[in-house]
Amino acid sequence: MNAITRLATAVSLACALPLSAVAADNGTVEVLHWWTSGGEAAAVQTLKQQIEKDGFTWKDNAVAGGGGAAAMTVLKSRAVAGNPPAAAQIKGPDIQEWGALGLLTELDEVASANHWDQLLPAKLTPIWKYDGHYVAVPVNIHRVNWLWINPQVFEKAGAKVPETLDELFAAADKLKAAGFQPLAHGGQPWQDSTVFESLVLSVLGPQGYHKAFVELDEQTLTGAKMIETFQALQRLAGYMDPNRAGRDWNIAAAEVITGKAGMQIMGDWAKSEWTAAHKVAGSDYQCVPFPGTQGSFTYNIDSLAMFKLSNANDIKAQNDLAKVALEKPFQTAFNQNKGSLPVRQDMDMSQFDACTQRSAKDFAEASKGDGLQPSMAHNMASSLAVQGAIFDVVSNFLNDPKADPAKAAKQLSAAIKASR
Ligand code: GAL
Repeated sequence: MNAITRLATAVSLACALPLSAVAADNGTVEVLHWWTSGGEAAAVQTLKQQIEKDGFTWKDNAVAGGGGAAAMTVLKSRAVAGNPPAAAQIKGPDIQEWGALGLLTELDEVASANHWDQLLPAKLTPIWKYDGHYVAVPVNIHRVNWLWINPQVFEKAGAKVPETLDELFAAADKLKAAGFQPLAHGGQPWQDSTVFESLVLSVLGPQGYHKAFVELDEQTLTGAKMIETFQALQRLAGYMDPNRAGRDWNIAAAEVITGKAGMQIMGDWAKSEWTAAHKVAGSDYQCVPFPGTQGSFTYNIDSLAMFKLSNANDIKAQNDLAKVALEKPFQTAFNQNKGSLPVRQDMDMSQFDACTQRSAKDFAEASKGDGLQPSMAHNMASSLAVQGAIFDVVSNFLNDPKADPAKAAKQLSAAIKASR
Protein backbone atom coordinates (compact mmCIF):
# COMPACT_ATOMS: atom_id res chain seq x y z
CA MET A 1 0.00 0.00 0.00
CA ASN A 2 1.52 3.35 -0.95
CA ALA A 3 1.48 6.44 1.25
CA ILE A 4 -1.67 7.93 -0.31
CA THR A 5 -3.66 4.75 0.03
CA ARG A 6 -2.53 4.25 3.61
CA LEU A 7 -3.50 7.75 4.58
CA ALA A 8 -6.73 7.59 2.56
CA THR A 9 -7.80 4.44 4.37
CA ALA A 10 -7.11 6.00 7.71
CA VAL A 11 -8.90 9.22 6.87
CA SER A 12 -11.95 7.51 5.39
CA LEU A 13 -12.43 5.86 8.75
CA ALA A 14 -12.79 9.29 10.26
CA CYS A 15 -15.50 11.76 9.37
CA ALA A 16 -15.29 13.49 6.02
CA LEU A 17 -15.39 17.11 7.12
CA PRO A 18 -13.20 18.46 9.91
CA LEU A 19 -14.95 19.60 13.03
CA SER A 20 -14.10 23.27 13.26
CA ALA A 21 -12.55 24.42 16.49
CA VAL A 22 -14.66 26.41 18.90
CA ALA A 23 -14.41 29.72 17.12
CA ALA A 24 -14.49 33.24 18.35
CA ASP A 25 -17.27 35.20 16.63
CA ASN A 26 -14.94 36.91 14.22
CA GLY A 27 -13.27 33.70 13.09
CA THR A 28 -10.22 31.77 14.18
CA VAL A 29 -7.43 30.40 12.07
CA GLU A 30 -5.35 27.59 13.49
CA VAL A 31 -1.92 27.19 11.91
CA LEU A 32 0.20 24.09 12.33
CA HIS A 33 3.91 24.64 11.67
CA TRP A 34 7.37 23.85 13.05
CA TRP A 35 8.94 27.28 13.19
CA THR A 36 10.10 27.24 16.77
CA SER A 37 13.71 28.48 16.81
CA GLY A 38 14.23 32.04 18.09
CA GLY A 39 14.56 33.53 14.62
CA GLU A 40 11.71 31.50 13.16
CA ALA A 41 9.34 32.33 16.00
CA ALA A 42 10.00 36.01 15.25
CA ALA A 43 9.04 35.36 11.63
CA VAL A 44 5.76 33.63 12.61
CA GLN A 45 4.96 36.54 14.88
CA THR A 46 4.74 38.83 11.81
CA LEU A 47 1.97 36.66 10.38
CA LYS A 48 0.08 36.40 13.64
CA GLN A 49 0.18 40.18 14.09
CA GLN A 50 -1.25 40.78 10.63
CA ILE A 51 -4.09 38.29 11.15
CA GLU A 52 -4.96 39.87 14.49
CA LYS A 53 -4.82 43.34 12.95
CA ASP A 54 -7.43 42.13 10.45
CA GLY A 55 -9.69 41.22 13.40
CA PHE A 56 -9.25 37.43 13.46
CA THR A 57 -7.98 35.10 16.14
CA TRP A 58 -4.70 33.28 15.55
CA LYS A 59 -4.40 29.84 17.10
CA ASP A 60 -0.78 28.78 17.12
CA ASN A 61 -0.02 25.11 16.74
CA ALA A 62 3.77 24.99 16.73
CA VAL A 63 5.22 21.48 16.83
CA ALA A 64 8.92 21.57 17.71
CA GLY A 65 11.32 19.59 15.56
CA GLY A 66 13.41 20.90 12.67
CA GLY A 67 12.52 19.62 9.22
CA GLY A 68 8.94 19.01 10.31
CA ALA A 69 8.79 15.22 10.84
CA ALA A 70 7.10 15.63 14.24
CA ALA A 71 4.68 18.21 12.83
CA MET A 72 3.68 15.83 10.03
CA THR A 73 2.95 13.09 12.56
CA VAL A 74 0.68 15.44 14.50
CA LEU A 75 -1.03 16.56 11.29
CA LYS A 76 -1.74 12.99 10.22
CA SER A 77 -3.26 12.08 13.54
CA ARG A 78 -5.40 15.24 13.51
CA ALA A 79 -6.61 14.37 10.00
CA VAL A 80 -7.36 10.80 10.97
CA ALA A 81 -9.39 12.12 13.92
CA GLY A 82 -11.36 14.29 11.48
CA ASN A 83 -10.03 17.47 13.04
CA PRO A 84 -7.25 19.00 10.94
CA PRO A 85 -6.20 22.62 11.55
CA ALA A 86 -7.29 25.39 9.15
CA ALA A 87 -3.78 25.66 7.75
CA ALA A 88 -0.69 23.50 7.92
CA GLN A 89 2.82 23.82 6.60
CA ILE A 90 2.91 21.15 3.86
CA LYS A 91 5.36 21.16 1.00
CA GLY A 92 6.08 19.88 -2.49
CA PRO A 93 4.62 16.57 -3.74
CA ASP A 94 3.03 16.01 -0.34
CA ILE A 95 0.47 18.71 -1.17
CA GLN A 96 -0.77 16.48 -4.00
CA GLU A 97 -1.17 13.57 -1.58
CA TRP A 98 -3.29 15.67 0.79
CA GLY A 99 -5.22 17.02 -2.20
CA ALA A 100 -6.00 13.49 -3.32
CA LEU A 101 -7.59 12.81 0.07
CA GLY A 102 -10.13 15.54 -0.63
CA LEU A 103 -9.31 17.40 2.57
CA LEU A 104 -7.92 20.60 1.10
CA THR A 105 -10.02 23.60 0.19
CA GLU A 106 -9.80 25.54 -3.07
CA LEU A 107 -8.39 29.04 -2.82
CA ASP A 108 -9.24 30.16 -6.35
CA GLU A 109 -11.21 33.22 -5.31
CA VAL A 110 -8.41 34.66 -3.19
CA ALA A 111 -5.84 33.58 -5.77
CA SER A 112 -7.49 35.27 -8.72
CA ALA A 113 -8.48 38.43 -6.79
CA ASN A 114 -4.84 38.79 -5.76
CA HIS A 115 -3.25 37.69 -9.06
CA TRP A 116 -1.22 34.79 -7.68
CA ASP A 117 -0.54 33.41 -11.16
CA GLN A 118 1.24 36.64 -12.05
CA LEU A 119 3.07 37.08 -8.75
CA LEU A 120 4.52 33.59 -8.27
CA PRO A 121 7.40 31.97 -10.19
CA ALA A 122 5.63 30.50 -13.23
CA LYS A 123 7.72 27.29 -13.28
CA LEU A 124 6.66 26.42 -9.75
CA THR A 125 2.92 27.19 -9.48
CA PRO A 126 1.87 23.54 -10.12
CA ILE A 127 3.28 22.72 -6.65
CA TRP A 128 0.48 24.65 -4.92
CA LYS A 129 -2.34 23.53 -7.19
CA TYR A 130 -4.27 20.32 -6.94
CA ASP A 131 -6.30 19.41 -9.97
CA GLY A 132 -5.73 22.91 -11.36
CA HIS A 133 -6.90 24.74 -8.21
CA TYR A 134 -4.74 26.48 -5.63
CA VAL A 135 -4.98 24.60 -2.34
CA ALA A 136 -1.88 26.04 -0.67
CA VAL A 137 -0.20 29.40 -0.46
CA PRO A 138 3.61 29.65 -0.55
CA VAL A 139 5.28 32.10 1.81
CA ASN A 140 8.94 32.08 0.84
CA ILE A 141 11.80 30.47 -1.08
CA HIS A 142 14.54 28.94 1.01
CA ARG A 143 17.82 28.00 -0.63
CA VAL A 144 19.36 24.84 0.78
CA ASN A 145 22.82 24.74 -0.84
CA TRP A 146 24.51 27.26 1.44
CA LEU A 147 27.61 27.22 3.60
CA TRP A 148 27.59 29.54 6.64
CA ILE A 149 30.92 30.89 7.79
CA ASN A 150 32.23 32.74 10.81
CA PRO A 151 34.95 34.97 9.24
CA GLN A 152 36.63 35.75 12.57
CA VAL A 153 37.17 32.04 13.18
CA PHE A 154 38.44 31.61 9.63
CA GLU A 155 40.88 34.46 10.12
CA LYS A 156 42.21 33.08 13.39
CA ALA A 157 42.73 29.70 11.71
CA GLY A 158 44.22 31.15 8.53
CA ALA A 159 41.51 29.38 6.50
CA LYS A 160 40.29 30.51 3.10
CA VAL A 161 36.62 30.63 2.12
CA PRO A 162 36.16 27.43 0.07
CA GLU A 163 34.80 27.34 -3.45
CA THR A 164 35.51 23.69 -4.23
CA LEU A 165 35.24 20.49 -2.22
CA ASP A 166 39.03 20.25 -2.00
CA GLU A 167 39.13 23.76 -0.59
CA LEU A 168 36.38 22.83 1.87
CA PHE A 169 38.50 19.99 3.24
CA ALA A 170 41.57 22.26 3.30
CA ALA A 171 39.66 24.91 5.30
CA ALA A 172 38.34 22.22 7.66
CA ASP A 173 41.92 21.01 8.29
CA LYS A 174 43.04 24.53 9.18
CA LEU A 175 40.11 25.05 11.53
CA LYS A 176 40.78 21.72 13.20
CA ALA A 177 44.48 22.47 13.62
CA ALA A 178 43.58 25.80 15.24
CA GLY A 179 41.39 24.02 17.80
CA PHE A 180 37.94 24.89 16.39
CA GLN A 181 35.12 22.53 15.56
CA PRO A 182 35.36 22.79 11.76
CA LEU A 183 31.78 21.83 10.96
CA ALA A 184 28.81 22.47 13.25
CA HIS A 185 26.20 19.77 12.69
CA GLY A 186 23.29 18.25 14.51
CA GLY A 187 22.91 14.49 14.18
CA GLN A 188 19.31 14.28 13.00
CA PRO A 189 18.30 12.47 9.80
CA TRP A 190 17.02 15.57 8.00
CA GLN A 191 20.21 17.47 8.82
CA ASP A 192 22.37 14.55 7.64
CA SER A 193 20.46 14.49 4.35
CA THR A 194 20.69 18.26 4.00
CA VAL A 195 24.47 17.86 3.92
CA PHE A 196 24.21 14.82 1.66
CA GLU A 197 22.04 16.54 -0.94
CA SER A 198 24.44 19.49 -1.21
CA LEU A 199 27.28 17.01 -1.72
CA VAL A 200 25.29 15.24 -4.43
CA LEU A 201 24.70 18.58 -6.15
CA SER A 202 28.41 19.36 -5.93
CA VAL A 203 29.68 15.99 -7.16
CA LEU A 204 26.99 15.08 -9.72
CA GLY A 205 25.97 18.58 -10.83
CA PRO A 206 22.33 19.72 -11.18
CA GLN A 207 21.47 17.19 -13.89
CA GLY A 208 22.89 14.30 -11.89
CA TYR A 209 21.05 15.61 -8.82
CA HIS A 210 17.81 15.59 -10.80
CA LYS A 211 18.41 12.05 -12.03
CA ALA A 212 19.13 10.87 -8.48
CA PHE A 213 16.39 12.56 -6.46
CA VAL A 214 13.62 13.37 -8.92
CA GLU A 215 13.92 10.58 -11.49
CA LEU A 216 15.29 8.11 -8.90
CA ASP A 217 17.44 6.69 -11.67
CA GLU A 218 19.10 3.45 -10.57
CA GLN A 219 22.30 3.92 -12.55
CA THR A 220 22.84 7.35 -11.05
CA LEU A 221 22.03 6.14 -7.55
CA THR A 222 24.57 3.33 -7.71
CA GLY A 223 27.14 4.92 -10.05
CA ALA A 224 30.76 5.94 -9.47
CA LYS A 225 29.82 9.57 -8.73
CA MET A 226 27.39 8.52 -6.01
CA ILE A 227 30.10 6.38 -4.42
CA GLU A 228 32.39 9.40 -4.57
CA THR A 229 29.68 11.43 -2.83
CA PHE A 230 29.45 8.93 0.02
CA GLN A 231 33.25 9.01 0.32
CA ALA A 232 33.12 12.80 0.64
CA LEU A 233 30.33 12.52 3.22
CA GLN A 234 32.43 10.11 5.27
CA ARG A 235 35.34 12.52 5.12
CA LEU A 236 33.12 15.44 6.19
CA ALA A 237 31.85 13.42 9.16
CA GLY A 238 35.41 13.49 10.49
CA TYR A 239 35.07 17.27 10.96
CA MET A 240 31.79 17.05 12.88
CA ASP A 241 31.39 16.75 16.65
CA PRO A 242 31.15 13.01 17.47
CA ASN A 243 28.60 13.89 20.18
CA ARG A 244 26.22 15.51 17.70
CA ALA A 245 23.36 13.00 17.97
CA GLY A 246 19.97 14.68 18.29
CA ARG A 247 21.38 18.23 18.32
CA ASP A 248 18.97 20.78 16.84
CA TRP A 249 20.06 22.80 13.81
CA ASN A 250 19.74 26.10 15.65
CA ILE A 251 22.06 24.87 18.40
CA ALA A 252 24.57 23.97 15.68
CA ALA A 253 24.07 27.45 14.16
CA ALA A 254 24.78 28.97 17.58
CA GLU A 255 28.15 27.17 17.67
CA VAL A 256 29.17 29.07 14.53
CA ILE A 257 27.63 32.35 15.73
CA THR A 258 29.54 32.20 19.04
CA GLY A 259 32.83 31.23 17.37
CA LYS A 260 33.09 27.69 18.68
CA ALA A 261 32.79 26.26 15.17
CA GLY A 262 33.81 27.66 11.80
CA MET A 263 31.08 26.55 9.38
CA GLN A 264 27.63 25.03 9.00
CA ILE A 265 26.09 23.39 5.93
CA MET A 266 22.44 24.40 6.19
CA GLY A 267 19.61 26.08 4.31
CA ASP A 268 19.05 29.78 4.82
CA TRP A 269 16.67 29.40 7.74
CA ALA A 270 20.07 29.32 9.53
CA LYS A 271 20.23 33.03 8.74
CA SER A 272 17.21 33.58 10.98
CA GLU A 273 19.44 32.70 13.94
CA TRP A 274 22.16 35.14 12.86
CA THR A 275 19.52 37.85 12.41
CA ALA A 276 18.02 37.11 15.82
CA ALA A 277 21.55 37.45 17.28
CA HIS A 278 21.81 40.90 15.61
CA LYS A 279 24.64 39.82 13.32
CA VAL A 280 25.10 41.45 9.93
CA ALA A 281 25.37 39.43 6.71
CA GLY A 282 28.59 40.03 4.82
CA SER A 283 30.53 41.34 7.83
CA ASP A 284 29.71 39.31 10.97
CA TYR A 285 29.09 36.21 8.89
CA GLN A 286 29.36 35.00 5.35
CA CYS A 287 27.02 32.95 3.23
CA VAL A 288 28.50 31.23 0.20
CA PRO A 289 27.02 28.61 -2.11
CA PHE A 290 28.00 25.15 -0.95
CA PRO A 291 31.42 24.50 -2.60
CA GLY A 292 31.05 23.28 -6.15
CA THR A 293 27.37 24.25 -6.45
CA GLN A 294 27.77 27.85 -7.64
CA GLY A 295 25.08 28.58 -10.23
CA SER A 296 22.69 25.96 -8.83
CA PHE A 297 19.88 26.54 -6.38
CA THR A 298 18.14 23.82 -4.39
CA TYR A 299 14.81 25.28 -3.37
CA ASN A 300 12.69 24.57 -0.34
CA ILE A 301 9.46 26.51 -0.40
CA ASP A 302 7.39 26.74 2.75
CA SER A 303 3.69 26.79 2.08
CA LEU A 304 0.48 26.68 4.04
CA ALA A 305 -2.05 24.19 2.74
CA MET A 306 -5.63 25.03 3.67
CA PHE A 307 -8.08 22.44 4.97
CA LYS A 308 -11.83 22.38 4.39
CA LEU A 309 -13.73 24.06 7.21
CA SER A 310 -17.43 24.38 7.96
CA ASN A 311 -17.69 27.51 10.11
CA ALA A 312 -18.26 30.59 7.92
CA ASN A 313 -16.29 32.94 10.18
CA ASP A 314 -13.36 30.56 10.33
CA ILE A 315 -13.41 30.36 6.55
CA LYS A 316 -13.13 34.16 6.47
CA ALA A 317 -10.12 34.00 8.78
CA GLN A 318 -8.58 31.29 6.63
CA ASN A 319 -9.06 33.37 3.46
CA ASP A 320 -7.50 36.33 5.22
CA LEU A 321 -4.44 34.21 6.00
CA ALA A 322 -4.18 33.14 2.37
CA LYS A 323 -4.43 36.75 1.19
CA VAL A 324 -2.02 38.22 3.74
CA ALA A 325 0.63 35.57 3.06
CA LEU A 326 1.40 37.01 -0.36
CA GLU A 327 1.02 40.71 0.42
CA LYS A 328 4.14 42.83 0.28
CA PRO A 329 4.36 43.91 3.95
CA PHE A 330 4.19 40.30 5.13
CA GLN A 331 6.55 39.03 2.43
CA THR A 332 9.07 41.64 3.57
CA ALA A 333 8.80 41.25 7.33
CA PHE A 334 8.49 37.46 7.35
CA ASN A 335 11.37 36.80 5.00
CA GLN A 336 13.66 39.33 6.65
CA ASN A 337 13.23 37.31 9.84
CA LYS A 338 13.10 33.84 8.28
CA GLY A 339 16.23 34.14 6.14
CA SER A 340 14.41 33.22 2.93
CA LEU A 341 13.60 35.00 -0.30
CA PRO A 342 10.14 36.45 -0.88
CA VAL A 343 8.21 34.08 -3.14
CA ARG A 344 6.43 37.05 -4.68
CA GLN A 345 8.48 38.04 -7.71
CA ASP A 346 7.87 41.83 -7.77
CA MET A 347 9.58 42.78 -4.51
CA ASP A 348 12.06 45.57 -3.90
CA MET A 349 15.14 43.53 -2.94
CA SER A 350 17.06 46.53 -1.60
CA GLN A 351 15.21 45.96 1.69
CA PHE A 352 17.01 42.63 2.13
CA ASP A 353 20.53 41.82 3.26
CA ALA A 354 23.50 40.70 1.16
CA CYS A 355 22.73 36.96 1.49
CA THR A 356 19.12 37.30 0.40
CA GLN A 357 20.08 39.60 -2.47
CA ARG A 358 22.61 37.04 -3.64
CA SER A 359 19.98 34.34 -3.29
CA ALA A 360 17.55 36.33 -5.48
CA LYS A 361 20.20 36.78 -8.16
CA ASP A 362 21.17 33.11 -8.10
CA PHE A 363 17.51 32.01 -8.15
CA ALA A 364 16.90 34.07 -11.29
CA GLU A 365 20.06 32.71 -12.95
CA ALA A 366 19.38 29.10 -11.99
CA SER A 367 15.76 29.36 -13.20
CA LYS A 368 16.99 29.90 -16.74
CA GLY A 369 18.43 26.39 -17.03
CA ASP A 370 18.82 23.16 -15.07
CA GLY A 371 20.30 24.86 -12.02
CA LEU A 372 17.00 25.16 -10.18
CA GLN A 373 16.35 21.88 -8.35
CA PRO A 374 13.91 20.78 -5.64
CA SER A 375 15.37 19.92 -2.25
CA MET A 376 15.20 16.22 -1.45
CA ALA A 377 15.82 16.67 2.28
CA HIS A 378 13.01 19.25 2.57
CA ASN A 379 10.14 17.38 0.94
CA MET A 380 10.29 19.11 -2.43
CA ALA A 381 11.58 16.33 -4.68
CA SER A 382 9.77 13.11 -3.84
CA SER A 383 7.12 11.52 -1.68
CA LEU A 384 7.81 11.35 2.05
CA ALA A 385 8.16 7.56 1.73
CA VAL A 386 11.05 7.85 -0.73
CA GLN A 387 12.58 10.63 1.32
CA GLY A 388 12.37 8.46 4.47
CA ALA A 389 14.21 5.63 2.69
CA ILE A 390 17.02 8.02 1.69
CA PHE A 391 17.21 9.47 5.22
CA ASP A 392 17.69 6.00 6.72
CA VAL A 393 20.51 5.01 4.40
CA VAL A 394 22.31 8.35 4.72
CA SER A 395 22.10 8.56 8.52
CA ASN A 396 23.09 4.93 9.05
CA PHE A 397 26.07 5.55 6.81
CA LEU A 398 27.05 8.79 8.52
CA ASN A 399 26.87 7.22 11.97
CA ASP A 400 29.16 4.31 11.08
CA PRO A 401 32.69 5.54 10.41
CA LYS A 402 33.57 2.15 8.89
CA ALA A 403 30.63 2.03 6.47
CA ASP A 404 31.44 1.16 2.87
CA PRO A 405 30.53 3.92 0.36
CA ALA A 406 29.96 1.47 -2.53
CA LYS A 407 27.62 -0.60 -0.38
CA ALA A 408 25.79 2.56 0.72
CA ALA A 409 25.11 3.55 -2.89
CA LYS A 410 23.60 0.11 -3.55
CA GLN A 411 21.55 0.34 -0.36
CA LEU A 412 20.31 3.77 -1.41
CA SER A 413 18.92 2.43 -4.66
CA ALA A 414 17.42 -0.67 -3.02
CA ALA A 415 15.79 1.30 -0.20
CA ILE A 416 14.23 3.75 -2.65
CA LYS A 417 12.88 0.89 -4.77
CA ALA A 418 11.34 -0.79 -1.73
CA SER A 419 9.66 2.44 -0.62
CA ARG A 420 7.85 3.11 -3.91
C1 GAL B 1 12.58 23.16 6.73
C2 GAL B 1 11.57 24.26 6.62
C3 GAL B 1 12.18 25.52 7.06
C4 GAL B 1 12.81 25.37 8.42
C5 GAL B 1 13.66 24.12 8.53
C6 GAL B 1 14.14 23.85 9.93
O1 GAL B 1 12.03 21.96 6.28
O2 GAL B 1 11.17 24.39 5.28
O3 GAL B 1 11.21 26.52 7.07
O4 GAL B 1 11.84 25.39 9.37
O5 GAL B 1 12.98 23.01 8.07
O6 GAL B 1 13.13 23.41 10.75
